[in-house]
Amino acid sequence: MPQDESAAWAAVMRLARAERPDGQPATAIRPLFAADPDRFAQFSWAADGLLLDLSKTALTKPVLAALLDLAEARDLTGRRDAMAAGASVNVTEGRAALHMALRAPADAGFRVGDEDASAEVHAVLARMREFAAAIGDGRLRGATGEGFTDVLNIGIGGSDLGPAMVARALWTPGSPLRAHYLGNVDAHAWEAIRPGLDPRRTLVLVASKTFTTQETMTNAGLVRGWLAEALGEAQVGGHLAALSTNLEATRAFGIAPDRVFPFRDWVGGRFSLWSAIGLSLAVSLGWDAFARLLAGARAMDRHFLAAPLEANLPVLMALAEVWHVDGLGLGARAVLPYDERLARLPAHLQQVEMESLGKQVTLDGAPVAHRTGPVVFGEPGTNAQHSFMQLLHQGTTPVPADIILVANPDHPHADSHRKLLANGLAQSAALMRGKTPGEVRAEMQAAGAPEAEIARLLPHRVFPGDRPTTTLLLPRLDAFTLGQLVALYENKVACLGILWGINAFDQWGVELGKQLTGPILRALEGGATSAQDSSTMGLLGAIGRLQAGG
Ligand code: F6P
Repeated sequence: MPQDESAAWAAVMRLARAERPDGQPATAIRPLFAADPDRFAQFSWAADGLLLDLSKTALTKPVLAALLDLAEARDLTGRRDAMAAGASVNVTEGRAALHMALRAPADAGFRVGDEDASAEVHAVLARMREFAAAIGDGRLRGATGEGFTDVLNIGIGGSDLGPAMVARALWTPGSPLRAHYLGNVDAHAWEAIRPGLDPRRTLVLVASKTFTTQETMTNAGLVRGWLAEALGEAQVGGHLAALSTNLEATRAFGIAPDRVFPFRDWVGGRFSLWSAIGLSLAVSLGWDAFARLLAGARAMDRHFLAAPLEANLPVLMALAEVWHVDGLGLGARAVLPYDERLARLPAHLQQVEMESLGKQVTLDGAPVAHRTGPVVFGEPGTNAQHSFMQLLHQGTTPVPADIILVANPDHPHADSHRKLLANGLAQSAALMRGKTPGEVRAEMQAAGAPEAEIARLLPHRVFPGDRPTTTLLLPRLDAFTLGQLVALYENKVACLGILWGINAFDQWGVELGKQLTGPILRALEGGATSAQDSSTMGLLGAIGRLQAGG
């Protein structure tokens, strides 16, 4: 038992710097497999059918014990429970972070102060369900009497990435409606979507927690104009709905109260796909799929809230991240879903993780004593193998990777799926094992390479190995397992906020760019240019000349 938090940190850092009893550095993984044939069983855990394998990291029993001591010293259990009890864990904004309530049953009893959060959530869910049913069975139709075939979600960040990721993962040609996501203020995005949409058959959801976001309000204006032009101003309302916490602004935008689906400020944008922000999913995938998504996330929450820390998947993933980031100094992590349907998962996790954990001060404003959130990036396998994986195998910056595998596909092409799985498993094995100079030499000799050629190429063909991967295995990809998976990452982020002592639920770092956009926009509109740095002034001038010339 550590006496205090700093002793717990020191114990972790000592293990990271010291040679292990096996004489290996703390980064070595391959020897751990040689020494313990049972390593997989020792370092893999499951929750409701979702398997987490941390055996291909350098975690050892003493390291894990030290990390669990740290979790105890940080009162991870108490702080987790306070979050679930609706405490104002988002201290800079004075808000709870109660997205767990969004996927819990009505009688789960989540509260924020005097407010019955569960009751409110279920009142909105009931309206969403009825709305989705009415769209699906044609009781709600477009202005010309035609049924809706397409839903367009206009939103950005958390009001876009989560739903877009889920729709990409779960939509099939048999789904009730097609879903489209418009985020970027770059109108090329709208121009790319527009030709595929018929205004008479398109339902438009304006998704914005604040209903003030520049990109979303600009796009909402464009799309509203498109509807008005095709259908007449009076008919626009029947094609619009809003998903927001800002009911005044939705009214000002002209959206009737019965077409506004609210949520509360204790739902952070990046954790909001389970709220009214998920309406595009309920409409396009059907209610049952949306309900299964919530059920999967709820199953993960129950596990997170109840399982002992030493068998708790989000906690273990967070501890492994602390080991990688702080112990071993690894400042990035790749997310590699071996499932094309999860193509947008890395983008969603970038926001969930980097907006939450990209912080430099603790809850009370003191500089953090440790490194915090790593850079997160990724691509589906096997595509990633043919682009950036070179650096993961042989670069000078080791990058831990999450490899997400799905045992059973939803297509009939067994051969393709076997190859996909083989590639995913091979990547994690290759990153862990590497290839020694001796192995390269033996391989080249066996192939009959001359000695001079071996000497010339050998260093290029050596793989250092000992590069950590975390493998997540899903039985299949469906609404339930996707809910589990996303909630696993969300809860991991909450744990990391606790372990690092930072606020994982605010995002002040996005404000400065927003502030500076104002005066620059006014300059681009032809107004006076307030003093900017010479680079910005120079670029404004160059843009002006190019626009005049073009
Ligand atoms: O600028 C960042 C951010 O505030 C994110 O946190 C949020 O998900 C996104 O913008 C969109 O915000 P809103 O839903 O209020 O339009």
